[in-house]
Amino acid sequence: MKILLASRNKGKLEELRRILADHPSIELVGLDDVDPYPEAPETAATFAGNAEAKALDALRYTGLPSIADDSGLAVDALNGMPGVLSARWSGTHGDDTANLELLLNQMGDVPDERRSAAFVCAVAFAQPNVETQIVFGRMPGRVIREPRGANGFGYDPIFVPDGHSETAAELSSEAKDAISHRGEALREFAKLLD
Ligand code: IMP
Repeated sequence: MKILLASRNKGKLEELRRILADHPSIELVGLDDVDPYPEAPETAATFAGNAEAKALDALRYTGLPSIADDSGLAVDALNGMPGVLSARWSGTHGDDTANLELLLNQMGDVPDERRSAAFVCAVAFAQPNVETQIVFGRMPGRVIREPRGANGFGYDPIFVPDGHSETAAELSSEAKDAISHRGEALREFAKLLD
């Protein structure tokens, strides 16, 4: 069975291929492997809403069973923001450094005991004539005051996962995959296939 992951991110494709290694009948392809189609902006109020919209678009345009994910950082002291706006928090989509610096400045007066946050990921699986299935993953932790580490992306340098002293940007990619919101959601998706 061919399944489309509605993403151009090679890291996400590789990660899901590793997780699906014991499902040899599944051939996972990405957006670069199918004919281009118009990709709608992410405008939903929730991670699940964005993931579902992306997966349904992918199914509609390609006819393939399709997976899509949406993720971000939910900070308790900011009532769950940046949330679905994580990628464009500073106003420019994908400017990781500006996003992270704005968040640190906003949290300047937030004391250590109230700096809890969690990375959250929703993965939607859309198939023809079946209700879309949605699974979630979560990586709880806290936001520190100065960026540390050079691995990863996004808010990783200012996020220390619970049970660790390193930031997510100081962990190896294998160590991060094992505890990450995306890893957990993708493993939940793999269980759906069983
Ligand atoms: P997307 O779901 O891949 O589009 O990610 C949305 C945004 O959330 C990214 O641009 C990052 O700012 C943030 N984000 C999501 N997952 C991670 C992560 O594992 N580490 C750091 N930032 C993340």
